[in-house]
Amino acid sequence: MARATPSEHSADYGQKERVRVLITRGRIQRRIQALAKEIRRDFPHEPLHLVSVLKGGVFFLTDLARNLTGQVSFDFIAVSSYGQDTHSSGQVRLTRDLDSSIEGRTVIVVEDILDTGMTLQYLLRLFQHRNPKRLRVAVLLDKPARRIAAVRADYVGFTIPNEFAVGYGLDYSERYRNLPYVGALTLGAKKKRPEK
Ligand code: IMP
Ligand code: MG
Repeated sequence: MARATPSEHSADYGQKERVRVLITRGRIQRRIQALAKEIRRDFPHEPLHLVSVLKGGVFFLTDLARNLTGQVSFDFIAVSSYGQDTHSSGQVRLTRDLDSSIEGRTVIVVEDILDTGMTLQYLLRLFQHRNPKRLRVAVLLDKPARRIAAVRADYVGFTIPNEFAVGYGLDYSERYRNLPYVGALTLGAKKKRPEK
């Protein structure tokens, strides 16, 4: 059974990584049920095409899709951000495109977290050029304190403080994605904030 209590993990490099539960599995599931209802209420009669960003958005996409009534399809895209340091630099690169056209479709972009907003800004520009019928954004987490780009989500699961989140799809060096809850990761005794 998954413990919804703070847990400790030892990193490969000997530093202690600590994960403190921020949002429990139950709260995530209840919030996603409410978001799915809200989205369906806004578009009662339309097939919805969910487009998720690999890999972080996958858990949110599958739970959201299962809670949506009516016609639903989905597709995946992958991007990577790169630059001088490990933080989002604003340079976003497409590494895997969608399988199918979004022209004329009602598209919901499903993202794990809205941080600086650079990734979402890139995606919205890319998708807008492909002439969807409508383009909306759903994010599980919103970290407004770090926003650089002028973008906003239409559907937000939870607004969180400026902490490094892991779990429920979110990773630190590809680890922790499988946690069923969202936690805040701290490194070592000094509570160092990990970089992306
Ligand atoms: P943005 O372009 O700065 O908004 O960052 C978007 C991407 O950075 C997300 O899709 C995540 O993959 C990653 N990211 C941002 N904040 C966090 C975090 O707190 N934990 C884990 N990944 C994050
Ligand atoms: Mg990531």
